[in-house]
Amino acid sequence: MIKLGVNIDHVATLRQARGGIVPSVLEAALLAEKNGAEGITVHLREDRRHIQDEDVRSLRTTIATRLNLEMSVAPEIVDIAVAVNPAQATLVPEKRAELTTEGGLDVIAGTNTIEKVVYKLVKAGIAVSLFIDPEKSQIEAACDVGAPYIEFHTGEYANASTDEEHDEQFYRLLMAAEYAHAKGLIINAGHGLDYENVKRICTIPHLHELNIGHSIVTRAIFVGLGQAVAEMKKILIA
Ligand code: PXP
Repeated sequence: MIKLGVNIDHVATLRQARGGIVPSVLEAALLAEKNGAEGITVHLREDRRHIQDEDVRSLRTTIATRLNLEMSVAPEIVDIAVAVNPAQATLVPEKRAELTTEGGLDVIAGTNTIEKVVYKLVKAGIAVSLFIDPEKSQIEAACDVGAPYIEFHTGEYANASTDEEHDEQFYRLLMAAEYAHAKGLIINAGHGLDYENVKRICTIPHLHELNIGHSIVTRAIFVGLGQAVAEMKKILIA
């Protein structure tokens, strides 16, 4: 059964729009857990555009499932991760001007820094995942730097506009999952997944967890967060 990690960044986006305390990120996390989320994901961005340091600290001590902290390799953020000690840290590339994460981490180009950060986090008892494109060379680099988990970037699959492109991206993910599994990695995936395109992703073997945010928070506006999470969970266990 594929686990569901719910990314609640956009609950914080809504809160930050008015600079107040509602909607509560903690309340959202607890409601997501109550409705089937097996993990809560937040991205503490360097510009703090949504999730704040205090959110990470309070989620860490309140939620019953696993906290997955998405983060860059910036030293300040790495220090926060070590201090807060989430169950998992997912390293992602981060650019200031991007609307959302635009692609996988280039583990090959960033080997030296990434290896040091992975070592520091693993030493602190944190399970480390690397958000990468579904490419053989990146999978090999992830193994080389000692990351036990990877998360495949599904953005290109989600953005495919023709059936042909959709197939191409799907098989790219499928082959990469086979390769990563053979290498002994634990495989997560996410980005751009919604209630329709996730169905095909669920047929990919060896998937451990999917991290889904925008589509769930969007649906929550119309049906409530509990139902939005439960509907996604139902697809993942089907
Ligand atoms: N996984 C990673 C590494 C991400 O950066 C994001 C977006 O923050 C997600 C999953 C979730 O993507 P979405 O919000 O499009 O579901």
